[in-house]
This record gives sequence, C-alpha cells and structure tokens, in this order.
Amino acid sequence: MKEMENIIPHDFHIGKKERNKLNGHKSFVVWFTGLSGSGKSTLANKVEHELFEQGIKTFSLDGDNVRKGLNNNLGFSAEDRQENLRRIAEVAKLLVESGSVVIASFISPLEKDRAMIKKIIEGEDFVEVFVNTSLEECERRDVKGLYKKARAGEIKNFTGVDAPYETPENPDIEIKTEEENLEDAIKRIVLHLQDKLKIS
Ligand code: PPS
Repeated sequence: MKEMENIIPHDFHIGKKERNKLNGHKSFVVWFTGLSGSGKSTLANKVEHELFEQGIKTFSLDGDNVRKGLNNNLGFSAEDRQENLRRIAEVAKLLVESGSVVIASFISPLEKDRAMIKKIIEGEDFVEVFVNTSLEECERRDVKGLYKKARAGEIKNFTGVDAPYETPENPDIEIKTEEENLEDAIKRIVLHLQDKLKIS
C-alpha cells in the first residue's frame, strides 16, 4: 500500500525487554491448534490457570473474545479464516510487547496460515501446541452439536467435514488427547514453558 510509506514507527523507550524485566519473566505466545472439539480451550484454560498461579502475567485469546468482537465481520471461508488469524496474530504480538504470555486457541487449520502467524509473532516468541484428537473422537464428543449440523448440511465449510485441517508438520508440543490424560498433558506443557519464561 502506497500510504504505508508515510507511516514511520515511533521509537518508544519502554519495550518488551523492559516490561519483561519488570514482570520477572519473558512474554511469548502459546498457540493451540486443532479441530473443533479437540480440547484446545480446555487445555488452554488449565495451562493459563497454572501460569497465573505462578504469578505469570497471562492473557487468553479465543473465539469468544475475538469472533464476537474484533472479528465479528468474518466467517469461515478460507479468506476469512486467514484474515481472522492475521488480526489475532497482530493482537497477540501487541500483548507480547505489553509483557503478557498469550494463550491463543484457534483451529488455525492451514499450514500456510500458521506460517503467517509465526512470521507475524516472530518464531522465538511462538510455541505451537498441536491438540491432536481424531476427527472421529471430536465428532463422537460433539460438545456443541456442530458436527451433527455440518453433516446435515446446516453449516457449510466446517473444518474436518467439508473444509480441510492440515496436520502441523513440526509442532513444539503435541498432545494426543485420546492417549494422554489431561493432568499429564497440562504438566508437560507447563514444564516446556518454564525455560522460555526465564530471563537470560
Ligand atoms: S479458524 O479456522 O481458526 O479461523 O476458526 P476459529 O476462529 O478458531 O473458530 C472456530 C470456532 O467457531 C465455531 N465454528 C466453526 N468451526 C469450524 N468451521 C466452521 N464452519 C465453524 N462455524 C462455527 C466452532 O465452535 C469453533 O470453536 P472450537 O472451540 O474450535 O470448537
């Protein structure tokens, strides 16, 4: 965009480094990806709770506070999902600048969109958690009754039914919810984050 040439960022004196020092821990994004009903939000909530108990500054981003507000003009076409995720990644980046550990849970179904997210946030501030629950199990659980509606053709472009979910190639953490119990999975994620929290 031509107008962007005239946007010159101001060099603020207080940045992520200073805020991290004040808070006593680093800030970054923990991004949960997986099918609808895979258990992303359950894991994300519990992980946030554990970190909060440790005195870590956290902030959760998920469908409820994003798709009903900032992104309420977006649906579930491939283009809208990409824009949904782009905006969320930009918000997450600002929250990281503000010193928070951001817990984000979004289906984020496509590899190219996850690569975009990682690029916006910057690789070193990004931890990808793949919540690996089979489509069969998500559909069996069908907590929100959405798979039933999608199979009946009442919802179009539903991930796993008539829209793709591409399995992450190289996630930092993979949780197989059908094999690992919830408490063990949470412990494993929180343990992985301990080193990242340390200010070197
Ligand atoms: S995406 O693909 O990352 O942009 O999706 P996301 O913002 O995470 O939104 C997923 C939640 O929206 C509900 N929902 C749908 N999901 C997938 N496909 C379609 N068509 C759809 N329509 C509504 C669904 O409840 C998802 O919530 P979760 O928590 O993942 O079950």
